[in-house]
Amino acid sequence: MEVLIAANAEEAAKLAATAVLDGLAMRTSGNNVLGVATGSTPLGLYAELAKAVANGKADFTNTLAFALDEYVGLEGTHEQSYRQTLVHELCKIIGLREENLNTPDGFGDSEAQIRTQSAHYDAAITAAGVDVQILGIGANGHIGFNEPGSSLRSRTRIKRLSAKTRQDNARFFDGIDSVPTHSVTQGLGTILDARRLVLVATGAHKAEAIATALEGPLSSACPASVVQLHPDAVVVLDEAAAAGLK
Ligand code: F6R
Repeated sequence: MEVLIAANAEEAAKLAATAVLDGLAMRTSGNNVLGVATGSTPLGLYAELAKAVANGKADFTNTLAFALDEYVGLEGTHEQSYRQTLVHELCKIIGLREENLNTPDGFGDSEAQIRTQSAHYDAAITAAGVDVQILGIGANGHIGFNEPGSSLRSRTRIKRLSAKTRQDNARFFDGIDSVPTHSVTQGLGTILDARRLVLVATGAHKAEAIATALEGPLSSACPASVVQLHPDAVVVLDEAAAAGLK
């Protein structure tokens, strides 16, 4: 695991963009496959990738993307769905074609249907092979929506959102009662299959989760600790998020 500590969030975004582009450049044939995250953290990174596109150093026109997670009960056209968030905050920014953006489908008539959709999504990820997976981290140590207690080998599936995560995400909805209770998320095993992981964390509110993930024991109590298992994990932090490291 490589841990890069930047002076601030802007510098962290630049380091993370380099780690992503270097990871994508390792593919020798075919189109790149990028694993993408929503949330506030990767926005600076996406802006840096957009700069690389503008400078002619990157081109995402033919890149295939797979999102980490989606809310259960929201159609992909819903404004608060992660699909729409990524269309606005990623596709339009870096020139990734919307039809090349894959997101889990958490909308269906029954739990069984959503389970089947989740299994198909996982199989599509395996078939494509993700070159670089971008990750943020929750203050409770989640990656994707793998909340504490997630199996270290889990695959894409339905997960109940923790009270903390629903509270953290209430800012995007009309209050906590409108936040869905469940998500479909790539599993920890699915995430670990990516050839490179680029985990970004900024801000003092992430310091405890980062210290536990990087220096604590490998444990489902801190799902992000699985990055310790990955042979090519790049962790990019600002000084505030790195403050708890020994
Ligand atoms: C988003 C996701 C989450 C976020 C995490 C951090 O697709 O999977 O794990 O990365 O909740 O969110 P922010 O960046 O908003 O602090």
